Amino acid sequence: SGMQKLVVVSNRLPAALKKEQGRWTVNPGSGGLVTAMAPVLKNRGGTWIGWSGASDPDVDVDSLLADFSKEAGYELCTVPLTKEEVDGYYFGFSNEIIWPLFHDLQTRCRFYPKYWRAYLDVNFKFAEVVARKSDQDDYIWIQDYHLMHQAFFLKSMGVKRNIGFFLHIPFPTPDIFMKLPWRWKLIQALIEYDLVGFQTIQDRRNFVGCLQRLMPEARVEGRGAVVTVHAGNRQFRLGAFPISIDYNQFSDLAKRPDVARKAFELKEALRHRKIILGVDRLDYTKGIPERIRSIQTLLRRYPDLKGRMNFVQIAVPSREEVGEYKDLRTEIEQLVGRVNGEFSFPGWVPVHYHYRNLPYDELVAYYAAADIGLVTPLRDGMNLVAKEYCACNNSEDGVLVLSEFAGAAAQLQKHAYLVNPYDMDGIAKGIHRAFHWSKEERSLHMSKLREQVRKNNIFWWVDSFLQAGIAKTLGDFPEV
Ligand code: UDP
Ligand code: G6P
Repeated sequence: SGMQKLVVVSNRLPAALKKEQGRWTVNPGSGGLVTAMAPVLKNRGGTWIGWSGASDPDVDVDSLLADFSKEAGYELCTVPLTKEEVDGYYFGFSNEIIWPLFHDLQTRCRFYPKYWRAYLDVNFKFAEVVARKSDQDDYIWIQDYHLMHQAFFLKSMGVKRNIGFFLHIPFPTPDIFMKLPWRWKLIQALIEYDLVGFQTIQDRRNFVGCLQRLMPEARVEGRGAVVTVHAGNRQFRLGAFPISIDYNQFSDLAKRPDVARKAFELKEALRHRKIILGVDRLDYTKGIPERIRSIQTLLRRYPDLKGRMNFVQIAVPSREEVGEYKDLRTEIEQLVGRVNGEFSFPGWVPVHYHYRNLPYDELVAYYAAADIGLVTPLRDGMNLVAKEYCACNNSEDGVLVLSEFAGAAAQLQKHAYLVNPYDMDGIAKGIHRAFHWSKEERSLHMSKLREQVRKNNIFWWVDSFLQAGIAKTLGDFPEV
């Protein structure tokens, strides 16, 4: 089964086209899905089907992506979308309904029926490409909330394939999920997969809760990481598979002399003050305003820290056409200004805010330089930044301060400093405490965190998913 060809399908490809000053450029796709999946395809080969990021009929997508594909060593296949399709399916249904709802932020949802229709149309379009680009024996692996209807449409076309689905974001509790006007159809589509994977046991539990609200006769069989569900005439599997990173790639890059030098230069430029680091797509689930306020609380409560630390926030531009994201950007920039205005003095500005995409080696240099990784999402499927920070901390001298509502907390809770991202006082206290950890404490906890991420890396994740997905008979895989 190791030889089975992999066909990965996601909205976002590892390379995205963007029009900059009238010219099309190829950029690395940002976000955790791409970070996690790129090494998988590189390692195993196969085909990756997705949207190019462009909606302009004139752009020659294939020739722009040909070089990337050649170098990457796997096939890239794009699904062309019009501007209307992108608006309704991507910005609309995916990012103004499912994204906020599944992160428990129902008040940010816009339940427009036209978004639902666009979502179905585009899912059908994707399914046509998947059917054309795959063979009977391939393993079809659908990624994330944009494409939940793939198995449903492929089956309606009479295409018989073994199809797995992995949800990168949280799955909400029944009380939240039931607010979705299309809840029944969505659940009916998800049970068409042969295997549905979630980030945590809790997400899987939530899914079962929703399924049983809508189909009270549904039964779950087995225990452990993978269970079997019987619902109506369907029998399929559910699993919890915490996604991860290519640990060695990050750790090795942080060791490279030029990157280590860059990390030193960053420390020097900040005059060897303690560095607290936040790295996120600019997204309202990440708790960035709350985090900046917690820095304000920190400096008010512990004035001795003035002039002795810097908070560096990297905010990566994301989904800029959605109103909520525009408003958030303004809010963050005002907050940064307010905190800097309150505390700065000649020679010291507490908050350093960068609104841009960082090249990989610069990002890793920041991770290596930071004394505290401050990862405080309000809700997050996993959060790979937390794992990347640990992998890059080869000196084992840093502290991870982590939100209890990130999927990563399920794995890292024992050795990270866990905080409630809504509790500004608690975060400030956590940072202050972390500054007073002894060298021994820091290295004890960081080495344990690194061991966890190194063992449960992205290749472990793929193997556990595919083992459950490809195993033919029930009970053919070990309990984890
Ligand atoms: N990242 C990026 N561009 C940057 C900085 C970071 O693509 O300029 C990456 C980062 O390395 C990480 C991903 O974005 O792999 C964020 O993943 P995470 O799971 O933390 O959150 P997501 O963005 O998927 O919600
Ligand atoms: C999250 C989602 C991914 C998505 C990424 C970046 O990680 O789970 O599916 O690709 O954010 O967002 P974008 O909208 O730019 O693809």
